[in-house]
Amino acid sequence: MNLHFTEEQEMMRKMVKEFAQSEIAPFVERMEQGEFPRDILRKMAELGLMGITIPEEYGGAGMDFISYIIAIHEISKVSATVGVILSVHTSVGTNPILYFGTEEQKKKYVPKLASGEYLGAFCLTEPSAGSDAKSLKTKAIRQGDYYMLNGSKVFITNGGEADTYIVFARTNPNEEGSRGISAFIVEKDTPGFIVGKDEKKMGLHGSRTVQILFEDAKVPAENLLGEEGQGFKIAMANLDAGRIGIAAQSLGIAEAALEYAAAYAKERIQFGKPIAEQQGVAFKLADMATAVEAARLLVYRAAFLRATGLPCGKEASMAKLFASRTAMEAAIEAVQIFGGNGYTKDYPVERLFRDAKICEIYEGTSEIQRIVISKQL
Ligand code: CAA
Repeated sequence: MNLHFTEEQEMMRKMVKEFAQSEIAPFVERMEQGEFPRDILRKMAELGLMGITIPEEYGGAGMDFISYIIAIHEISKVSATVGVILSVHTSVGTNPILYFGTEEQKKKYVPKLASGEYLGAFCLTEPSAGSDAKSLKTKAIRQGDYYMLNGSKVFITNGGEADTYIVFARTNPNEEGSRGISAFIVEKDTPGFIVGKDEKKMGLHGSRTVQILFEDAKVPAENLLGEEGQGFKIAMANLDAGRIGIAAQSLGIAEAALEYAAAYAKERIQFGKPIAEQQGVAFKLADMATAVEAARLLVYRAAFLRATGLPCGKEASMAKLFASRTAMEAAIEAVQIFGGNGYTKDYPVERLFRDAKICEIYEGTSEIQRIVISKQL
């Protein structure tokens, strides 16, 4: 594994970093008030960021997976909200079509997703099927040229804003396990596709998370993704790479917490000297920096495996497990170093603290990552 970025990757990093600071940072407060960052996404689309890894023939930028991870990482340092919108749109909203779609499906949907004209979402989780994803109950019954979908999905990131949804439903009611599940591309205007409750979340206030209901939703048979019964594998295969995206988002949060805490500790004077020169705080910063460095290596190692087409499921889970814990711990320590100021909304570490928590939950909880890792030992 090369520990240095290529010239192209370094250019990507600088471009995204500048964009995040000049365009996303001034918008953070509005996102905190609950505004979805439509304008930011439009500007990201102009820069090719909505289709970084999509081949040029399907309208993407044709860059490698590491460049994509660099983008999520740098964006999330400024806004974890924008980071998750991009990660879900790409890893699990677009890639399932690119990797499992027919040529017609790819031509119809991927260029629109890659250009940012469409936003993508992913509907796996249900009220009674979270970690145990294969127990999902949404049904898709074939009726002539259509599948009739009935059921409900929860915690759908980008839901209500997205144009296309990768939906997992049971096509074979007699098959209880993963093999009865199929995947579909569902357009937002499908009759019977209903956007339900908007979740009020602890963090990521600018990202939309909703329930999605299917009430006799008529999905054209040609929108079946892959073959009947292949849906669970499509979900799992795309979550492998998706988890590296969430690991990169976590890394961005952790790095931001470290940088804010170190800068504050150098300026804050107590007992006659900067608190950074007092060992209790200095050691906290040393531990944070060490964990961030370890998380960075795990994230980019998993990204390197993925970019070179090697199996990366275990490494993706390790990266997500460790980086999300690092984000949470770094945010906790950053708030502690800021003291009373850290507990107020006048300083950014309070937001990092709230945003970090979800990284240990979505795209597979930390407990699920441990299952994936331990199964491969
Ligand atoms: N790639 C391809 N196929 C895979 C796979 C992978 N990574 N992992 C499992 N499979 C296949 C298995 O080979 C098996 O196939 P066969 O039946 O042909 O043998 C089938 O899938 C079932 O596998 P398991 O028996 O291992 O399934 P399980 O139920 O024991 O465990 C799990 C699977 C890892 C626990 C899985 O249910 C899981 O990942 N749960 C967490 C769900 C999750 O991550 N949800 C995220 C929602 S999306 C989200 O959060 C987006 C967002 O908003 C940010």
